[in-house]
Amino acid sequence: MKPQHWFRWLVVQGTPRLVLKTYARRGDPVAQLMSSPEAVHDPIPLLESLRASGRLVLSPVGWASADHEIVRTILRDTSFGVAAAEGFVPTPLRPMLDRLELPPNPVQPPSMLVIDPPDHTRMRKPVASAFTPRAIRRLRDRVESVTSELLDALPPRGAADLVSDFAAQVPIAIISEMLGFPDSDRKHFLAWGDAVSPMLDIGISWPTTRAASKAIVEMDRYLDAHIARLRREPGEDILSGLVASGDLDDRELKASATLLMGAGFETTVNLISNGVVQLVNHREQLHRLRDDPELWPNAIEEVLRFDSPVQNTGRIAGHDTELAGVRIRKGNTVVLSLAGANRDPDVFTDPHRFDVTRANAKEHLTFSSGIHVCLGASLARMEGTHALRALFERFPDLVLAGIPRRRPLFTLHGYSRLPVLLGQRAAQTSAV
Ligand code: HEM
Repeated sequence: MKPQHWFRWLVVQGTPRLVLKTYARRGDPVAQLMSSPEAVHDPIPLLESLRASGRLVLSPVGWASADHEIVRTILRDTSFGVAAAEGFVPTPLRPMLDRLELPPNPVQPPSMLVIDPPDHTRMRKPVASAFTPRAIRRLRDRVESVTSELLDALPPRGAADLVSDFAAQVPIAIISEMLGFPDSDRKHFLAWGDAVSPMLDIGISWPTTRAASKAIVEMDRYLDAHIARLRREPGEDILSGLVASGDLDDRELKASATLLMGAGFETTVNLISNGVVQLVNHREQLHRLRDDPELWPNAIEEVLRFDSPVQNTGRIAGHDTELAGVRIRKGNTVVLSLAGANRDPDVFTDPHRFDVTRANAKEHLTFSSGIHVCLGASLARMEGTHALRALFERFPDLVLAGIPRRRPLFTLHGYSRLPVLLGQRAAQTSAV
């Protein structure tokens, strides 16, 4: 890494890191939510402290909200633009930083996640056509057979780490196939995903930034070769379709491929592992699901609401505006707590109760809302429903065999280790 990269880190991550840590130490709930170990292990007390401070709160690190109506309104208001880490950099420094850009990746432009219309519309359209609910329904059989093979491979009565042995494997197998990557390369994607995920947070450390940058450079070389191969020998996968359409240039293609790959498994792994922990900790809810399996899709919505795999996002005001009686100036950033909105008592009765029969669980904002609403929501729901139902039908007596370990991340929320004892294997798993 060149010294300029350290300078880039200092401006984009190092300075916000110092600011966040300083205010977190002084007890500011927004800074704590973005940087303190409590936010990783149990963000709820901090979210409630933010809620108690007001619907839209001005903290030393910007505006923030855990209010369902405000979060949803801002997400749907196109006068608010998306906020990447670079959005926090003072304008005069930006051209210099642009010269030190990394290769295309999920968290920097031209990734659709961090660009505004009209480019966002152009980037999203060709990808969206491959993610229709109908297209996802066609993948169901494949999800079913991948899940079944993984469950067959688990040791009956034995111990397993459900993150590495199951929760991470289901989504990576599916998204790899959707993008035409060979099975043998999944291990590289798991390692790259691990290294790049912290880049969704603000104020990450220099060693973490260095590891992420190295992974991005490796991924870029891999994608150059993969895209060249798809040009010569196109397959039936989404990426072959995007390459052949000519809708996106090479940088845009690679940004979309890395985003789909990362978003495709780094979030769903958390849905599955958070779901395991919540269901094991609320055994009576598992019994309800056993008695009435039709409840499974709603149980997935409740997991998404109660233990959100993505905790927050951010937006920047495009012009001066007024919301909930406060004035937000053009250029101000707003931290939107999706997890906080999901516990808003004005929308969810008794919000801290985990209830798989909750009638309006689906009103959660875990998949965001508005023009950036998650493209993979149908796929994630289908994978989550099938994986969790098949797991508990196959191993009904599954119990935790130690304290699950959270990943030290603030935007993504899941486990790095989930030790379980599987218990006796049930004879058959019914189709979902
Ligand atoms: C439980 C699983 C998932 C969760 C919680 C989740 C959550 C989200 C959220 C919150 C956003 C929008 C962020 C914002 O508004 O700033 C988003 C965007 C996105 N997600 Fe997901 N996601 C999940 C699974 C997936 C899967 C499986 C895929 C694809 C295979 C995917 C692809 C995308 C893409 C491409 C975007 C960018 C959309 C845009 O910016 O227009 N996601 N996701």
